[in-house]
Amino acid sequence: MLDKIKGLMEEVEGATPSTIAQLEEFRLKYLSKKGAVAELFSEMKQASPEQKKDMGKFLNELKSKAEEKYLAIKSLLEDTVSESAAIDSTLPSAINIGSRHPISIIRNEIVDIFSRIGFTVSEGPEIEDDWHNFSALNFPEEHPARDMQDTFFLEKNPDIALRTHTSSVQVRVMESTPPPIRTISPGRVFRNEAISARAHCIFHQVEGLCIDEDISFADLKQTLLYFSREMFGKDTKIRLRPSYFPFTEPSAEMDISCTLCGGKGCNICKYSGWTEIMGCGMVDPNVLKNCGIDSEKYTGFAFGMGIERITMLKYQINDLRIYFENDIRFLNQFSGMI
Ligand code: DAH
Repeated sequence: MLDKIKGLMEEVEGATPSTIAQLEEFRLKYLSKKGAVAELFSEMKQASPEQKKDMGKFLNELKSKAEEKYLAIKSLLEDTVSESAAIDSTLPSAINIGSRHPISIIRNEIVDIFSRIGFTVSEGPEIEDDWHNFSALNFPEEHPARDMQDTFFLEKNPDIALRTHTSSVQVRVMESTPPPIRTISPGRVFRNEAISARAHCIFHQVEGLCIDEDISFADLKQTLLYFSREMFGKDTKIRLRPSYFPFTEPSAEMDISCTLCGGKGCNICKYSGWTEIMGCGMVDPNVLKNCGIDSEKYTGFAFGMGIERITMLKYQINDLRIYFENDIRFLNQFSGMI
């Protein structure tokens, strides 16, 4: 029996339980009521008093060795368990990845659509002079768009203002690039407007310009039909209504069939089946001349649209102000979109 105790002692010393399950196995094997130590204690009852003395000593030694080992490993494992619970590398990442702003998403989509048919991207300054924002674009001296109510002028120099539209970039491109020209100009514009659900003092536009020999209104119409179908779906219809802009002749406003009801009539399109999305027209020969382009040789079309408006139609957003509020609940809905 002493040999048995010695053997167990060696076993206990050599055991290396390294998980909670292995430690439990260890406890059951040596320390539980039916374990090896308890079994030996009950065997000892049959031994003579002489034998009992030695056996008792060794058995108690074995018992305390096993208990010590059990307790030491237990506290070690508990420590590592709580540490690894604090930094659990297997947990799914809780990092919030930001999302693109819906205006950027739609801006990128517009750029993408036009780049597929050969339009480049050009940009101009947000602080403009009168020439590029108004005069070169054929705005008469007394045109209401120059009015203080619409335009943020620089107090000390009324020749300088925040651009009211991206049409100013048209002028810059035509002044610096010989035709053929095919470009779009996305950017921020500013108007002195009271902020409401339908108007803002800062918003975004995309200007389009195409100048070459023999460019006709049919080219304009086909380009805009292509754009509308790419942006709003292949069943989208367009219609052009006569309008007026100082820098185009003839001018038109373009409607698309309502994105919600498809043209049947609903409260979004005010039961007309159509929603307006942009202004357009053939570049006025005066504008070509102002920018140093031969208006006898070249013709062209231009168009301009509000990115906020396209985004509203695309995502059924009904208040312009939400774009600027940085409300995470709104912005999160666009996560994962490029
Ligand atoms: N600049 C116009 C605006 O801000 C939009 C526009 C209309 C641009 C017709 C154009 C155009 O190029 O041809 O309301």
